Amino acid sequence: MNMTNLPLRPRRNRASEAIRTLVRETVLLPGQFVYPIFMEAGTNTRTPVKSMPGIDRVTADLLPSEIESCLKLGISAFMLFPAVPDALKDKTATYSWNSENFYLTAIRDIKTRFPEICLISDVAMDPYNSDGHDGFVQDGKILNDETLPILAKMSLAQAEAGIDLLGPSDMMDGRVGYLRKALDEAGYTNTGIMSYTAKYASAFYGPFRDALDSAPKSGDKKTYQMDYANRREALREAELDASEGADMLMVKPALSYLDVISAVRQHSLLPLAAYNVSGEYAMIKAAAQNGWIDGHKAMLEVLMSIHRAGADIVISYFAKEYGEWYLKQSR
Ligand code: PBG
Repeated sequence: MNMTNLPLRPRRNRASEAIRTLVRETVLLPGQFVYPIFMEAGTNTRTPVKSMPGIDRVTADLLPSEIESCLKLGISAFMLFPAVPDALKDKTATYSWNSENFYLTAIRDIKTRFPEICLISDVAMDPYNSDGHDGFVQDGKILNDETLPILAKMSLAQAEAGIDLLGPSDMMDGRVGYLRKALDEAGYTNTGIMSYTAKYASAFYGPFRDALDSAPKSGDKKTYQMDYANRREALREAELDASEGADMLMVKPALSYLDVISAVRQHSLLPLAAYNVSGEYAMIKAAAQNGWIDGHKAMLEVLMSIHRAGADIVISYFAKEYGEWYLKQSR
């Protein structure tokens, strides 16, 4: 006898792990991750990033073993970020298109060893810029149109080195179209663009800037990165990037922007990535180290939430840890 006359009971679909597995709406595979890797010049050196436990900056010769261990887990897409020595930085980021620089040399080497992987670059001036901004600075202003040719030189050098996807993270207006045109004119019609479409001016980039020593020397990034109060503006950026020739879009950061991920997913036909950024990683690690949360469970929940919100691709420093867990539990 049903004493409470309650025919509709959602709990029936949660009764066992077997049933929960049957009705699970979202599945996140290691192959949907991009693993960002920090690089530094030199050889045989691994420098822990203090604010990102478990993440090291590595020299180029250590990349192959790093990549191999990810491939074993089913992760086959990577983003590379260089930490450039101060002495090599200048106002126009000339080191960025020096074809013998350690970043481009590493791209060339990795794509020769692992032609099957997807390698994504960072296109922005900040790692190479003595001003620490993503664009060219004059009289305290970040100039848009003067930055575009610099980004194009950087992009062509990366395309020449064999990068699969350019990752313009600079947020200059018109850069996707400008870079697409430069690539096509130089014959790189197969080099794609994963555009940082809606990149917000965020406090969550802190650990990344420590890792690369790339913080702006003065001012902030609010005249080019987006205002976190805005969602509609992300759709405008998405429309522009799509019309300029982007192959994939991105929302960044991820966690405070799940609504933006969802909105862009609904409005665009392009594949969408979300970048679970350094500060989002650091928060979970810090709380877990203090014993305040279960870091592993929090990681699983956070990564699933990003995918559930609509991101086809999850860019995360947790990728390897997720891959290790995924392999273990699927045995
Ligand atoms: C720089 C760039 C940043 C990140 C990726 N590319 C930092 C910034 O814009 O200041 C942040 C990634 C992270 O925090 O994990 N163009």
